[in-house]
Amino acid sequence: MNERKQYPGAKRLTDKRAVITGGARGIGRAIADRFIAEGAEVVIADKEHIPDDDIAGCHKLPVDVADESSVKEMMTEAVTLLSRLDILVNSAGIAKHRELLETELAHWQQIMDINLTGTFLCNREAARFMVPQKSGCIINIGSAAAILPSVRTHAYAASKGGVMSFTKAIAGDLAKHGIRVNVINPSPVDTEMVKSAHTPEFRASYTARLPMGRYALPEEIAGTAAFLASDDAGYVTGAMLNVDGGFTSSGVRQ
Ligand SMILES: NC(=O)c1ccc[n+]([C@@H]2O[C@H](COP(=O)([O-])OP(=O)(O)OC[C@H]3O[C@@H](n4cnc5c(N)ncnc54)[C@H](O)[C@@H]3O)[C@@H](O)[C@H]2O)c1
Repeated sequence: MNERKQYPGAKRLTDKRAVITGGARGIGRAIADRFIAEGAEVVIADKEHIPDDDIAGCHKLPVDVADESSVKEMMTEAVTLLSRLDILVNSAGIAKHRELLETELAHWQQIMDINLTGTFLCNREAARFMVPQKSGCIINIGSAAAILPSVRTHAYAASKGGVMSFTKAIAGDLAKHGIRVNVINPSPVDTEMVKSAHTPEFRASYTARLPMGRYALPEEIAGTAAFLASDDAGYVTGAMLNVDGGFTSSGVRQ
């Protein structure tokens, strides 16, 4: 069983009801832990099975974010469990990188289906419940790769660029309904996704380009998500928060 981190003092999400896609592991899991610690009631929705004893104190639902009927079913069930929906976090995503000339349509399509269409479907289905409530907060997880793409990331970077534009577009539309929509763009975060995608050599090159000289921890993305979800960010919408140790704002250094 994983030990839950303690966050002394902070209870900014008391009585908030949240759905977190991709919450079985990685960044989504860290956000679930943080939200629960700050007082939220949480539904984790993921394609992978979440063992019952792995994360206590939350509901778990299966979903394939790329499948419209699966998203509709999950969101309806989640709102039945939670009674309402205050926060949606879209952390479900995949990263697979190829040379352009080796990129089959199926590869491109799979990344778009999960990262971009999945974000659209989850945002739309959450908004169906948030609009009548006249309140809500949506946090999409983009990527620094959308701003400063690394080698072979064209499909992934394009999907996350889409997430950024989509977020800004609907933030404007949903503001009149009291719904805030923001995107967090992390540079590399130490999760299973990165462990499988980054060789030691690539990691060394990347680390050398990061002004803070290290990859982020999932808990550091979770802290930003907790801020955005809280009333402390009550006037923040349509924002892109680059949680990237300075990566996208720095040039060549010696
Ligand atoms: N780790 C990084 O360096 C990094 C950097 C920038 C952005 N991101 C983004 O952050 C998000 C989370 O990444 P992570 O590092 O935690 O990855 P991860 O692989 O550790 O976790 C991703 C989770 O998403 C779930 N998932 C994948 N496809 C799904 C689907 N179709 N339906 C439902 N769930 C699905 C997986 O089962 C997994 O639990 C992703 O959107 C990723 O693109 C990650």
